[in-house]
Amino acid sequence: MAFFSSLAAAIDSYTGLSPAAFFTIVALMVGAYRLVSAFFVYPDEESAAKRSLAPQMPPPPEGFSPPPQPVQLGDITLEDLKAYDGSDPNKPLLVAIKGQVYDVSIGRLFYGPGGPYAFFAGRETSRALALMSFDPRDLNSDLSDLSEAELEVLHDWEEKFKEKYVKVGNVVAGNSKDEDESRKEIKRDED
Ligand code: HEM
Repeated sequence: MAFFSSLAAAIDSYTGLSPAAFFTIVALMVGAYRLVSAFFVYPDEESAAKRSLAPQMPPPPEGFSPPPQPVQLGDITLEDLKAYDGSDPNKPLLVAIKGQVYDVSIGRLFYGPGGPYAFFAGRETSRALALMSFDPRDLNSDLSDLSEAELEVLHDWEEKFKEKYVKVGNVVAGNSKDEDESRKEIKRDED
């Protein structure tokens, strides 16, 4: 008890404050120091803190291989595009919007077999996306009778695809490569 009364006397004589006021001020100063110093974290401390907080990714399932880097295909006909509908796991998944072909392999959960939007894979989707239609008859590039609002919807989809996926080619009119090849074969036979 003698210790506390001499401490109180010392505080009073040095600071002119009551012990309660003195300790309140000390507590406020410590709090303010801790608050301000929390803003100045060393970079390596910060990354260590982030690393420990980051959710740990589970290891990929056995047999899983990430989709390969998109490959530029150049010009492709609608007929040849159909081969990229996910039925061949060795081929990328492609979707066309306004004649631009995007590699959507990273969206396999959406467009791969069994996915909710699998019917878009390997197809020109402009009309269907503009109309928000699941009707297979709308899987084409006919925009001739669409309203401004529908064209705007399509524009938004196009922007989303541009941002998320790599463009790998353009849809061109014409025969599929297979047809061209068989024509060449026939021509060779005739020669
Ligand atoms: C029943 C109404 C619908 C619901 C609840 C729904 C829900 C969703 C959800 C939750 C996503 C994932 C969004 C993301 O995380 O990026 C998505 C993506 C998508 N939706 Fe729908 N959707 C509906 C109708 C439609 C319709 C009518 C179309 C077009 C005909 C459509 C086309 C798409 C496409 C293309 C994607 C994938 C976009 C991408 O590649 O990131 N959806 N939808």
